[in-house]
Amino acid sequence: MYLRFFNLQEMPFSLTPNTQFYCALEPHNEALKVLLSALSMGEGFLKVTGEVGTGKTLLCRKLINHVDDKYVVVYIANTYLNPEELRCAVAGELGLDTQCPSQAVSQAIENRLLALSQAGKKVVMIVDEAQCLSWEALEALRLLTNLETESKKLLQVVLFGQPELDARLANPRVRQLRQRISFSYRLRPMTAVEVEYYIDHRLRRAGVEQKLFPRPLCRRIAQASRGIPRLVNTLCHKSLLQAYGDGRSTLTKGYVKAAIADTDDCNSAKAWRPGWPTALAILVMLLVAAIWLWRQVL
Ligand SMILES: Nc1ncnc2c1ncn2[C@@H]1O[C@H](COP(=O)(O)OP(=O)(O)O)[C@@H](O)[C@H]1O
Ligand SMILES: [Mg+2]
Repeated sequence: MYLRFFNLQEMPFSLTPNTQFYCALEPHNEALKVLLSALSMGEGFLKVTGEVGTGKTLLCRKLINHVDDKYVVVYIANTYLNPEELRCAVAGELGLDTQCPSQAVSQAIENRLLALSQAGKKVVMIVDEAQCLSWEALEALRLLTNLETESKKLLQVVLFGQPELDARLANPRVRQLRQRISFSYRLRPMTAVEVEYYIDHRLRRAGVEQKLFPRPLCRRIAQASRGIPRLVNTLCHKSLLQAYGDGRSTLTKGYVKAAIADTDDCNSAKAWRPGWPTALAILVMLLVAAIWLWRQVL
């Protein structure tokens, strides 16, 4: 594709949440820092929510890479599970035989958690797409976190989910679980300044030092994507693709505009900003009004 044309070593705007491309933006960095410290304090239930495409899965992966080897990670990425399937998935991640009947699975999980705790290990369960967990699976999850020794929990849980997760947790059916959530973080979209930094960072990471997207184009992308990283990736990728198609190594407004028009879920209406003639006319009108007022007063 356009790799060689733009002197890139890798695709800079792939949609895969690849931690190699992690950009230390304030929301992600702050979430990571607080998650790590909440885990080290032994908090039982933690929650991170964010709109689709804000970087939750990437953050899950970063967290998994960051926890030290005191931790055993149970990672659940598929949440369309009934309680039994959920317990089996947990057992599987803990290296247990998942063929045994349901009751035995629960017992085996408890035994393994106890053994790990005695060996000085902490077990953290990281659940992505937690908004898809059924009521029954949420209850099964809560029951798993009931397991504890006299002094500490045997299992800590971090839920990652779309804002619908909050709506789900607001339901009285899961009030016991909701009350246990000791820490919540909401991932916000990027600001316009962060979008520019993000675009430059990904390009640099992919091997290009020069600024392919000038500031006004970054601003337009920030506005159209509402600062959602996945949409920024899509817009940048499509812009590069079109420029490459035309054999142009300089990106222009037209390529970004076409990318926006071609991408669902983007703000295609340009934010209104007066051009300089309009701004000048407004300024003159304000000046005339001010002089008129001044004369009236005198
Ligand atoms: N801080 C970040 N640094 C680099 N890339 C990011 C960052 N946040 C999000 N992304 C990228 O945005 C895209 C969407 O992220 P993802 O984790 O899949 O979102 P979500 O799980 O919230 O839907 C991925 O390509 C991911 O690599
Ligand atoms: Mg995701």
